[in-house]
Amino acid sequence: MPAATKDTEKKIETLREKIRHHEHLYYVLDNPEISDLEFDKLMQELQQLEADNPKLITPDSPTQRVGGKPREGFIKVRHSSPMLSLDNTYSEEELRAWERRVHELSGRKDVDYVCELKLDGMSLSLGYDNGQLVRGITRGDGTVGEDVTLNVRTVRSVPLSIPKEKLKKAGIPPDFEVRGELLMPTAAFKKLNEERERAGLATFANPRNFTAGTVRQLDSSITAQRRLDYFAYGLLQNGRTYFDRHSKTLDALEAAGLKVNPHRKLVHSMDEVWDFIQQWEGKRDSLPYEIDGIVVKVDRVALQDELGFTGKAPRWAIAYKYAARAGITKLEDIRVQVGRTGKLTPVAMLAPVLIGGTTVRNATLHNMDEIDRLGVKIGDWVQVERGGDVIPKVAKVIDDKDHPRGTRAFEMPEKCPVCGTKVVRTEGEVDYRCVNANCPAKLRETILHFASRGVMNIDGMGDALVNQLTERGLVKNIADIYKLTKDDLLSLERMGDKSAQNILDEIAGSKQLPLERVIYGLGIRFVGERTAQFLAEHYGSMAALEKTGVEELQNVNEVGPRIAESIVEFFSIPANRKLVERLHEAGLTLSGQKKQRGTKLAGKTFVLTGTLAKYTRDEAKKMIEGAGGKVTGSVSKKTDYVVAGADAGSKLEKANQLGVSVIDEKEMEKLTG
Ligand code: IVH
Repeated sequence: MPAATKDTEKKIETLREKIRHHEHLYYVLDNPEISDLEFDKLMQELQQLEADNPKLITPDSPTQRVGGKPREGFIKVRHSSPMLSLDNTYSEEELRAWERRVHELSGRKDVDYVCELKLDGMSLSLGYDNGQLVRGITRGDGTVGEDVTLNVRTVRSVPLSIPKEKLKKAGIPPDFEVRGELLMPTAAFKKLNEERERAGLATFANPRNFTAGTVRQLDSSITAQRRLDYFAYGLLQNGRTYFDRHSKTLDALEAAGLKVNPHRKLVHSMDEVWDFIQQWEGKRDSLPYEIDGIVVKVDRVALQDELGFTGKAPRWAIAYKYAARAGITKLEDIRVQVGRTGKLTPVAMLAPVLIGGTTVRNATLHNMDEIDRLGVKIGDWVQVERGGDVIPKVAKVIDDKDHPRGTRAFEMPEKCPVCGTKVVRTEGEVDYRCVNANCPAKLRETILHFASRGVMNIDGMGDALVNQLTERGLVKNIADIYKLTKDDLLSLERMGDKSAQNILDEIAGSKQLPLERVIYGLGIRFVGERTAQFLAEHYGSMAALEKTGVEELQNVNEVGPRIAESIVEFFSIPANRKLVERLHEAGLTLSGQKKQRGTKLAGKTFVLTGTLAKYTRDEAKKMIEGAGGKVTGSVSKKTDYVVAGADAGSKLEKANQLGVSVIDEKEMEKLTG
């Protein structure tokens, strides 16, 4: 190897070490020593060096957290030993009963316990070979999980490699397995959900669901953006617990650079356990992530082995679950919200009440059936609960002498509160819906529009198919259409191999359609077919359109402030930009020819009627528009020319009545040429 390469290699490795050190300080210890800017600089320096020396890139380089193309699916992997769940308890009494069983079964009373927070995420196993992260597997059914390694690599608190010396110092062998909890911090959850809401995408009910949805993304760059976090709580080798005490496991994991939750305690009695539980019940809202209880584990592994398992849970550990945080308040009104599917959700407007440190002003009532089940009336006193879910819910009506009942019954409005369209409840369905296609946030409609003939022309993607795709979550936005696999389609009702293939071919074919179709297909408010055409011609690419401003947009033919603002607003939403990015990745045509549109016929309005000899309607339309003219469907006093072909009917008559100039094909050629 030439000396220069050796030097570069050394430089790169030193830089990587430095970055890993700062990543650990930032993502694991929450204690950065340098600014984000300084960190970014180091990262950029490394990226540059690696770009100049691609042969020196290693999989554990901090630049390699995201790489490669989206995958088709996940491979199933058997766990080295089952990933168990925990039995739950809900009271001090039950907890003491568990302790008695531990005493009885082990024949001893001096048992040490470790108390940990019960993190509300999903459990995940990490495999390290020779100190390198080689596997990330979801819990799955406990026996077999899914290989989500590429996504796990994007989690900044998960080390991609751990130096031998560090492992040695921590007392951990080079090949080992870590078990722990993957979660989404509450702040990230709220922010991401808000973004999705604004972009008209489906939102997640709680951080746990969002975490599960994120780690199973086929495109790891999406996982990377969602900033998941990982806390380790187990260490195995060949499927067996490695250290002889659980407390040692946690300390060793921490020493090796994994993130271990600092809020843990080794205690020597159930009284201390109970103290810990009570302490955290009051403090749980101060944490940046959700917890739903405390896990108590027998510290000594020899004792754990003696106690063994019952079914799916160990006898040596137990979860104490906190009760849902609840409060009593008056329900002052019930208002109705319209969701993306047009679904009407009744929401309780409450007298403000403090529940677990948060002031709650409204709570969901889900649907009319739930209101009937609760028997709730406006003016009632109700118990409101706030669980791991962000939206509090009305749990029950309080009915005693201190809490008089309300009197006003709630009725679903007959008209949609957003658009005023008559509300519909289909036979046998729980929900009331607004069926106005233009009522906001209607994913289904967005997709149908995108797939329709005049837009991306995906034949076969009609009502029935789109309903199934959206209901099953296979298509959550238009870009998802391009991720559909044959298996996805075959899992649907009434779908044979041939139809599935046809649809896939249609989808693939739509990628060839020109830029203006894609712009039109995005469903930007006020941007119709014609405006999309003008925009495509003016900007020549989606990238240029994305970057433009309200002022500049108004230079485009027929674009005024209203359309310009709508376009800028659309692209200001990160999720929309991401959508465009995904369409780009999917291989759609996002650039075209900039065109200087003719101005010869600017301001002139044409109507086409009858059959032309040389041109189809569409071609004639393009010719007129190419010269700056406009083509409309019906003849009025404002029409400048009617182009009449063979067998022209009522439109020709009307033109004659109104005294509008009638021209033939030849004259049209002259005017537009
Ligand atoms: S120990 C046999 N420790 O709770 C040991 N689990 O309800 C099982 N969880 O599937 C896991 N925080 O996803 C353990 N500190 C913690 C935990 C924890 C959250 C989750 C885990 C498990 C579920 C069982």
